[in-house]
Amino acid sequence: MSVYKITFSPTGGTEKAAACLAAAFGQDIQSIDLTDPAADYGRIILSPDDICITAVPSFGGRVPAAAASRLAKIQGRGAKAIAAVVYGNRDYDDTLLELQNILAGAGFRCAAAVAAVAEHSILRQFAQGRPDAEDEAQLGEFAGKIRAAIEADSINSHIALPGHTPYREYKGVPMKPRAGKGCSSCGLCAQKCPVRAIPAESPSQTDTETCISCMRCVAICPSHARSVNSLMLAAAAQKLKKSCQTRRGNELFL
Ligand SMILES: Cc1cc2nc3c(=O)[nH]c(=O)nc-3n(C[C@H](O)[C@H](O)[C@H](O)COP(=O)(O)O)c2cc1C
Ligand code: SF4
Ligand code: SF4
Repeated sequence: MSVYKITFSPTGGTEKAAACLAAAFGQDIQSIDLTDPAADYGRIILSPDDICITAVPSFGGRVPAAAASRLAKIQGRGAKAIAAVVYGNRDYDDTLLELQNILAGAGFRCAAAVAAVAEHSILRQFAQGRPDAEDEAQLGEFAGKIRAAIEADSINSHIALPGHTPYREYKGVPMKPRAGKGCSSCGLCAQKCPVRAIPAESPSQTDTETCISCMRCVAICPSHARSVNSLMLAAAAQKLKKSCQTRRGNELFL
């Protein structure tokens, strides 16, 4: 039996939540990074004994398309999946249901599902600092229950999850980061962009058609040179203020 942590985590919130869940499954955990556009995901072949903590963020209530297509290539072959969706305290809408369906299509058996909250990667004032100590303890508790259910072989063949089909339409968000004067052309953002939207030869630019607004380049730029239009950010914050303000809890579906 092997335990895997399979994550698409552009700015680290999803990774943190997945690590809280993975901790209950011991130290020997193999990580698969779904943000790598060069990886050959079709070569990953799992087996029924394997346990995979599979975590993606919610983008507009959906699984990010790049994560969906990469995950669909993995050969699950009956491996047990813990489907985890991480969202920025607004809502995850159809994301968990979509993730469950993608995993089933790739040959996984969905043993449990978790919705967890992490700091909003565009509007960082929402769910700031989450997952926090309270979340970590709760996610650890969830993972203990999931592990016990797997060990007792009492996992449900179908978990009823919130969400609807057809899934909510995702039209993208207009926030596309650009580099300002501080850019030293180090190339890190081009190297780490999950969808290759930053040309390596001119990293101060962004292919706005390809960019998925994941904010990784903004988060990792050592010169803090990349940013999103501040007026757009302020307008989005105003729009989401009501729905993002009240602390939302993490949820376990077994
Ligand atoms: C393009 C985009 C769309 C998002 N849409 C939602 C959303 O619909 N609901 C929500 O609660 N959070 C939303 N978020 C916030 C992320 O789901 C959340 O911050 C998540 O933790 C990001 O994962 P990461 O830190 O692993 O990159 C969105 C973030 C991005 C970048
Ligand atoms: S990471 Fe920052 S400094 Fe480096 S190329 Fe990108 S924008 Fe420029
Ligand atoms: S250019 Fe767009 S897709 Fe690429 S890292 Fe930056 S925000 Fe993400």
